[in-house]
Amino acid sequence: MPDPLHPDAPQTDPARSDALYDELLELALEAARRAGTLLRDGRPADLGVAATKSSPIDVVTEMDLASEKLITGFIGEHRPDDGFLGEEGASSDGTSGIRWVIDPVDGTVNYLYDLPAWSVSIAAEKDGEVVVGVVAAPMRGETCQAVVGRGAFNNGERLRHRPAPPLSQALIGTGFGYLAERRAGQAEVVRRLLPQVRDIRRGGSAAIDLCDVACGRLDAYYERGLNPWDLAAGDLIAREAGALTGGRPGKAVSQELTLAASPALFGQLQPLLDELGAWHD
Ligand code: IPD
Ligand code: CA
Ligand code: CA
Repeated sequence: MPDPLHPDAPQTDPARSDALYDELLELALEAARRAGTLLRDGRPADLGVAATKSSPIDVVTEMDLASEKLITGFIGEHRPDDGFLGEEGASSDGTSGIRWVIDPVDGTVNYLYDLPAWSVSIAAEKDGEVVVGVVAAPMRGETCQAVVGRGAFNNGERLRHRPAPPLSQALIGTGFGYLAERRAGQAEVVRRLLPQVRDIRRGGSAAIDLCDVACGRLDAYYERGLNPWDLAAGDLIAREAGALTGGRPGKAVSQELTLAASPALFGQLQPLLDELGAWHD
């Protein structure tokens, strides 16, 4: 039977995908649990920056690398034919049609400063479609999870987005990239959006922001410049909680723009963000 939330999704043998998705979910949950424990309990008191990437404030710590190694090692042991895309370099196609998309620490700057809003984000794609997503936020004691068509859960409790308020009452999360030029554009969007809404939050982990839309803790979240590993798991979790996600009007979430919101708000926010230029630098 077609899934009412995703009527255009390709139809596969339900029994086979059920068993496969169960396996992928269990692996993602266990990998995220192990990585979360390593990051929480193994964080050196004198944690420093191991390297920088796109700019001097785009940092990597030794723990980002250790987390990715743990996750890819654990999953690879159980499913050696799968592919990987990880922020810290994991990149392989695999031969099984399954690819894991991993952010070993989402919110590295928070983690570096010992602020609690960081997460481990693990998604599994089947033939290019995200079918399983897990976001573990150990300092919150929470793990959000979703399987396509089966709803989203936080520590086992079913998630539902918040009823949409009028735009003027909306609490909106966002984030900023690591490049100064992009930030100047993002600041300009916030300057024009802030007077029109309840308030704006900048949490520091895109994966948690997307889960917060799913949990009803934010009315909406948007950001330009996200990579697949930032959004793959959180996007599925938000959609499975009934939120709408997308990019510019008529487009899917992408690096250009990612928006997640309660449906009635999505319809207002998407054209507004387009007009404000949230999709370009
Ligand atoms: C970052 C976080 C942040 C978002 C940035 C991301 P990282 O990921 O998700 O909230 O604003 O765009 O790059 O670098 O901490 O994995
Ligand atoms: Ca990230
Ligand atoms: Ca990261």
